[in-house]
Amino acid sequence: MTADIAMLERLVRPGGKRVLDIGCGGGALVRELADRGADVVGLEISQAQLATAVARGGPSGARYVVGRAQELPFDDGSFDVAVFMRTLHHVPPADLIPALREARRVLLPGGVVYVAEPLAEGDYFALTRLVEDELEVREAAQAALAEATLAGLDRVTTVKYDVRLCVADLASLRARLVSVDPERAKLFDAREARLAEAFAALGEDGESSGERCFLQPMRADVLRASS
Ligand SMILES: C[S@@+](CC[C@H](N)C(=O)[O-])C[C@H]1O[C@@H](n2cnc3c(N)ncnc32)[C@H](O)[C@@H]1O
Repeated sequence: MTADIAMLERLVRPGGKRVLDIGCGGGALVRELADRGADVVGLEISQAQLATAVARGGPSGARYVVGRAQELPFDDGSFDVAVFMRTLHHVPPADLIPALREARRVLLPGGVVYVAEPLAEGDYFALTRLVEDELEVREAAQAALAEATLAGLDRVTTVKYDVRLCVADLASLRARLVSVDPERAKLFDAREARLAEAFAALGEDGESSGERCFLQPMRADVLRASS
């Protein structure tokens, strides 16, 4: 998460701004941004998907709402920054442009949409595609970003960066993948032997015993409302 936050910090300077974190997962980014003085709302698709974030609480300046990227439950002009942190490719391909249009709708004048997406590259992608192959959805998200003008957005900055992701053991990998989508539990369990092999073969040793570290290439885009 460190490289993700550093890149977001560098590209949008969120401190003191009103920020919407679309698909906030366990709320790590919401907490980090609130700690940096942002007024943050984390959005998730269900109470169940929000449970971890809510249980972890957080500093004042952080709140959570249930909703979907395609139909944001906010008025026009509510935020300085709308963030999709590793979330855009989880939106169904047909809804990608509507979701970007929704993000644009809720921006205040001068606001930006920030999208950080894992690319379909690197050894973490090779490992996790054994559970769910995200090749097509990741490519669909990049294609939608290339057509963001259809959503009334212009790409103003694009930066590629690498995240080094360290995972303590196979059980931690399972927990991480299942937290994104509970349906993955049975896929993981059915392919556990193959996953154990790939977990040991891909990436490199981490600092603690059994830990493995993997590379995930990322791309960050900053978009502004077209004039
Ligand atoms: C890979 S996780 C990323 C979570 C978090 N942003 C992070 O970086 O750790 C993707 C998240 O998007 C959420 N999600 C899936 N479809 C969504 C949608 N249509 N609108 C908003 N969030 C969605 C999932 O529930 C999941 O928590």
